[in-house]
Amino acid sequence: MENIIIRKAYPEEAERLIDINIKVWNTTYNGLIPQEVIDKLQSKNLARIERNKKSIKEKNNIFVAEIDGKIIGYSTYGKTRDENYTDAGEIYAGYILDDYQKLGIGRKLAVACMEEMIKNGYTTLITKCLKGNPSNEFHKSLGGEFVGQSTFEPLGIYVGIENIYYHNDLLKSLKYNKDKIEYKNISK
Ligand SMILES: CC(C)(COP(=O)(O)OP(=O)(O)OC[C@H]1O[C@@H](n2cnc3c(N)ncnc32)[C@H](O)[C@@H]1OP(=O)(O)O)[C@@H](O)C(=O)NCCC(=O)NCCS
Repeated sequence: MENIIIRKAYPEEAERLIDINIKVWNTTYNGLIPQEVIDKLQSKNLARIERNKKSIKEKNNIFVAEIDGKIIGYSTYGKTRDENYTDAGEIYAGYILDDYQKLGIGRKLAVACMEEMIKNGYTTLITKCLKGNPSNEFHKSLGGEFVGQSTFEPLGIYVGIENIYYHNDLLKSLKYNKDKIEYKNISK
């Protein structure tokens, strides 16, 4: 994956990110979350695009992975919304199109988020992953320690259980993941 660029998202890319979100939700959560819940949460409309555009402008907290001029995945980050880890940063989400998964792109996006959070003063980090999602392996692979579970209740129409992974030394986790990327580059 030499021709990959990791960079911040632009507001005009809001719709592309929603398209990726919808596609990846349908392949990932099929069988894990009822389809009618997925459809309700993941519809595309003008209001959602505008909201996303505004959010990118104001928060500037999305990293995208671009290959040959096309965005194929993204990650978002910021202050955690979990009240048990109030000082921690959180990688809220990572969505990569099926054909590009397990090629090391998710780790590269996570590293970009970690670097940015360190710049913003965070020293600890959490990530969350729906119980039963094979991507829990990705969260473990970033070096996070499983510390418990919380509930995920989008729009009050569904209750899911999420596993929480904690990084008690964000700087150390950043180095760990950068070294893993470096090692993969050398051993190619
Ligand atoms: C989760 C996701 C962002 C990870 O990105 P990725 O580019 O596929 O992951 P990477 O290639 O960087 O993987 C890093 C490590 O995690 C492992 N991993 C990633 N996804 C995995 C999976 N589904 N099952 C098992 N291991 C997985 C990789 O094998 C790799 O291990 P290694 O370094 O020992 O070789 C991506 O797979 C994705 O978008 N999945 C679907 C959506 C999703 O579940 N998002 C997370 C919601 S919490």
